[in-house]
This record gives sequence, C-alpha cells and structure tokens, in this order.
Amino acid sequence: MFLRKAWYLAAWREEVTDRPFGRTVLGERLVFFRTRDGSPKAVADRCPHRAFPLSMGTVEGDHLRCGYHGLAFDGAGRCVEVPGQSTIPPGCAVRAFPVVERWQGLWVWMGPAEDADPASVPEIAWLDTPGWVTSRGKFDLRANYQRLVDNLLDFSHLQFVHERTIGTDAVAEIPSRTERRGTSLHVQRWIVDRPPPPLFARAGGFNGNVDRWMNCDCHAPANVILDIGCAVAGSGALDGDRRRGIEIRSIHLVTPETATSTHYFWGYARNFAREDAAMTELLANGARATFAEDVAILEAQERRLTSARGAPEVDINGDGAPIQARRILGALIAAETAGQRRDGAPERVS
Ligand code: FES
Ligand SMILES: [Fe+2]
Repeated sequence: MFLRKAWYLAAWREEVTDRPFGRTVLGERLVFFRTRDGSPKAVADRCPHRAFPLSMGTVEGDHLRCGYHGLAFDGAGRCVEVPGQSTIPPGCAVRAFPVVERWQGLWVWMGPAEDADPASVPEIAWLDTPGWVTSRGKFDLRANYQRLVDNLLDFSHLQFVHERTIGTDAVAEIPSRTERRGTSLHVQRWIVDRPPPPLFARAGGFNGNVDRWMNCDCHAPANVILDIGCAVAGSGALDGDRRRGIEIRSIHLVTPETATSTHYFWGYARNFAREDAAMTELLANGARATFAEDVAILEAQERRLTSARGAPEVDINGDGAPIQARRILGALIAAETAGQRRDGAPERVS
C-alpha cells in the first residue's frame, strides 16, 4: 500500500534532460521531460491512441511526441496534434502529474493534482545549500520500501552489517530514544567515549575515543534524514559544541517503485573540509559502500519474505522505532483510503 498524497523524489535533476525519461513510481509508469525553458513535466507513460510508451517517443520543443503514430502532447497532458488530421479527438489526453524541481531533484505528486502544494515538498536543504558539500546517488533496490525505512530507523544493525564502515561494537548495546513529532519520528542515540567507526576515524583523523551522535528524523511517508557525526571525547559535543568533531547529514529519500522494488536516493552532506576533494571521494565511496551493504541485506530479506509469505516474525526491543513508523504511515494510508471511499472515488489497492 502506498500513500498517494505526497511528494516523492522521482529523479535527480540531471536524469531528466532533453529526452523522455520513463520511471515507475507507486506502480505507475510515468514519463518525465523538460520544456524549452527547462521546466520539468510528468505525464502517464501510455499514449491514449494505442498505448505505446511515450517514453519511447521524442521531445519537440514544449511537446512530447509519441514514437508510433506521432500524436503530440503538452506538459499538461493535452493532445495538441494528430498527424494527418486537423481535429483532436475528444478525450485525447494523458494524465499529468505535478512536478517540482527542488533540492537537486524532481519531486512528483502522486495524489489528485488539485491537492498538490509545492510548499509541502520536503525540506532537504543540505542537498543544495551553500556551506554544505554533498555527494549523492541512487540504488535500484529490489525490496519493498518499508524494509528500507525499517533499516534506517534501526541503529542496532550497524554493528553487524557495517563493521567495515560505520559500525562499532558499542552500537547494539546502547538503547536509543524515540519521540513522535506529528507524522514524523525522531530517534536519538549517543555513544559516549568509545572508539570511532572506521569511516569517521579516517574522515576526522581521530586518534582516540569520541562522543558520537546519531539523530534520525523519519518523515512520512518514507524520507529519513540522519544527523550523524562524532567529536573528540569530552570536548563538549554532548552540550552542543561540535567544533572538535565532524558533522554529516545522511539523507535517504525513499520512493516506492512497485510493491517489491524501490528507488533509493541517497545523499551525504558535510560542512567540514569543504574544499578537500579527497575527503569528498572518501565520504562518497564510504557512503556508497555502506548503503550497498544495506541493499544486499534488504534484497536477501525480501527474497526470503517472498518465498515464505505470511510466516511469523518476532519483535525485539530495537524494533520500537520501525514499528512506530509503520503505524504512522499505516494510519495515513488508512485515512487517505477512507477519504477516497467517502468521495466515491474508486479505492486503489497498490
Ligand atoms: S500509439 Fe501513440 S500515436 Fe499511436
Ligand atoms: Fe545500514
């Protein structure tokens, strides 16, 4: 099940150029393109004539032309030309989806267009703000999006999955604190006076123990921002003084593709050693390697869940935050579905 009334990151901005770009979001095939002034557009990737994928057509000026019989559509999805005839058949249109370009990406609204408010695009300022240097990328994850959210809210796996990058022995044994803030969750954990994980030791040049913070914000439906870093032990980080440490925003923008596949957009932003290209490479490679470890785990988990559907699972203490996140999202989806029923719109089962 998906929440439809939400902005989802559909593509990094450079993915959509002067050619049609097809991508599936929430199980729907969309095609993105840019008009002459660079404005991004998104419409359903199905020609209303004979269902040819519009993503296999061409962009001509402000229009998208079908590659089969040449019907042309504007960014609002209206047919503007039928080769060989002077009239447009009634109903000849494709559904258009609101798109906003922000934070280095294209965000698409999957609910009714009249409900789309560009001001409600999630605030991911670190991706596009002076003072922060960002590496970013994408994984095509062959697993349900909620498994990734579970994973991001669960710090206890770091010690076992990421021992070469961000894991240390201390992580699983130290409990985290979870707080609900509206439809968001805030999870906080401090690891005090312990050795830094390998990646942070290299990035920060730490020789001794550190105080390490992990603050995680999960915003429904599935965007997770982590404020992570560490500072020399006892140097004041616990009281907010991070000057002797390194500070990173680990950004995870999670867009369901289908029920069993996910567009996993990630970013890693820092505000230290900003001119240091070697540091950029170190952290980009470290982040990519870390998240690839998660992808491998989640895909293996999905395969097993698929092969033994409905088999029972046991909860442990570390599952608190993921369970709360599922409840929040479940309630939002239930409310949205109930609203659709009240409005008389057909209920969507994703
Ligand atoms: S299928 Fe698109 S123009 Fe015929
Ligand atoms: Fe992980």
